[in-house]
Amino acid sequence: MTNLRFGLIGTGFMGKAHAIALRSVGTVFPNIAAPILECLVDSDLAKAANDAEAWGFQRSSDDWQAICQDPDIDVVDICTPNYLHREMALAAAAAGKHIYCEKPLGLTGAESQEICQAAETAGVRTAVGFNYICNPLLVVARRMIAAGEIGDAYNFRGCYQEDYLSDPNSPFSWRCLRNQGGSGALADLGTHLINMAEFLLGPIDRLFGNLTTVYSQRPDPVTGVLRDVENEDIAQVLMTFSGGSAGTMEINRIATGRKCGLTFEIHGTKGSLIFDQERMNELRVYQCDDPEGRRGYRTILGGPEHDDYANFCPAPGHGLGINDLKVIEVRNLIQGIAEGTPVFSDFHNGWRVQTIVDAIEQSHLNNEWVNVNEGNQAK
Ligand SMILES: NC(=O)c1ccc[n+]([C@@H]2O[C@H](COP(=O)([O-])OP(=O)(O)OC[C@H]3O[C@@H](n4cnc5c(N)ncnc54)[C@H](O)[C@@H]3O)[C@@H](O)[C@H]2O)c1
Repeated sequence: MTNLRFGLIGTGFMGKAHAIALRSVGTVFPNIAAPILECLVDSDLAKAANDAEAWGFQRSSDDWQAICQDPDIDVVDICTPNYLHREMALAAAAAGKHIYCEKPLGLTGAESQEICQAAETAGVRTAVGFNYICNPLLVVARRMIAAGEIGDAYNFRGCYQEDYLSDPNSPFSWRCLRNQGGSGALADLGTHLINMAEFLLGPIDRLFGNLTTVYSQRPDPVTGVLRDVENEDIAQVLMTFSGGSAGTMEINRIATGRKCGLTFEIHGTKGSLIFDQERMNELRVYQCDDPEGRRGYRTILGGPEHDDYANFCPAPGHGLGINDLKVIEVRNLIQGIAEGTPVFSDFHNGWRVQTIVDAIEQSHLNNEWVNVNEGNQAK
């Protein structure tokens, strides 16, 4: 296995998370070739240079186009605002680079399709940053559902709630603009929840969406002048899955008090499951065949018996964190490249999720149920 050379674009929240993962993955998973942190790119060259030194990159740049063309780069890693994903990913694909892109893959389903198909035509491996489904306990939940341990899973209630914009004076940013962020809460948060819902219960087939913008203006961070917010604070979705389950999703970026409230509750004929990302090392399980008088939710704590957990820690209940999920995500990509196998989640998943975001917006605009899979090729 050869050591892949990464060019990472963006040094913000996700840029740092990717850098931590790239540095750690060879230690956590010694069976893969540790990546080489070849170049760190940011439009702020001084920041790129400082962070490159601190994070262990060999060099830095402010020229992402050059990195996409650079023969010494094997993987282009995109951690920039949403509106830049398309042109960066298309340039990387055209140059034959493998691509690791943060979510959402594109601003719309059509844009995501274009990106996905460009990568496919180029024959490169791809990954999208849907890190939460890398949690070993979610793999347990998925297996339990598939094995019928909670019977027929007939209901999914998912939420993703955060309060990063709950203060009406939180400044305007690219996240509030249609042509830079795309949708609002749906792009930031909903994309994770949609991917998770389908990871657990299979394809969503029909939905009805409702979008609400509570704070329609926010102050410009430089001038303080109020600017119009162009996308939603809250999304609510009624839906059904192809497998027969019913479901709801509620996605909220102004949910006072919620920091990473990515939760689901799945009810089945023989039991149920509850998960909350704020307590990501716990999966709560209820089983109807427990003896009468002893029924109740029990908590499974993540431990070395749960897939990738053992690679981080030999002791149960000691806990993984969000950056560990990124390490697993990077391992998935490197393994996919080495073995020539599809990565989960890849650009197809990114495109699929974005078609569902589009369907939610369409439903809201037209006040109608939308059949997600009709005329929609992203699977
Ligand atoms: N997977 C997750 O859980 C998760 C969490 C947060 C953000 N994200 C996604 O990650 C992406 C980045 O979000 P963030 O929160 O890290 O943003 P951020 O604002 O913290 O960082 C963005 C970085 O991109 C740089 N940048 C902007 N334009 C550039 C250009 N033309 N060339 C080079 N660098 C440029 C900025 O200087 C900044 O360093 C977004 O798509 C977002 O949706 C994913």
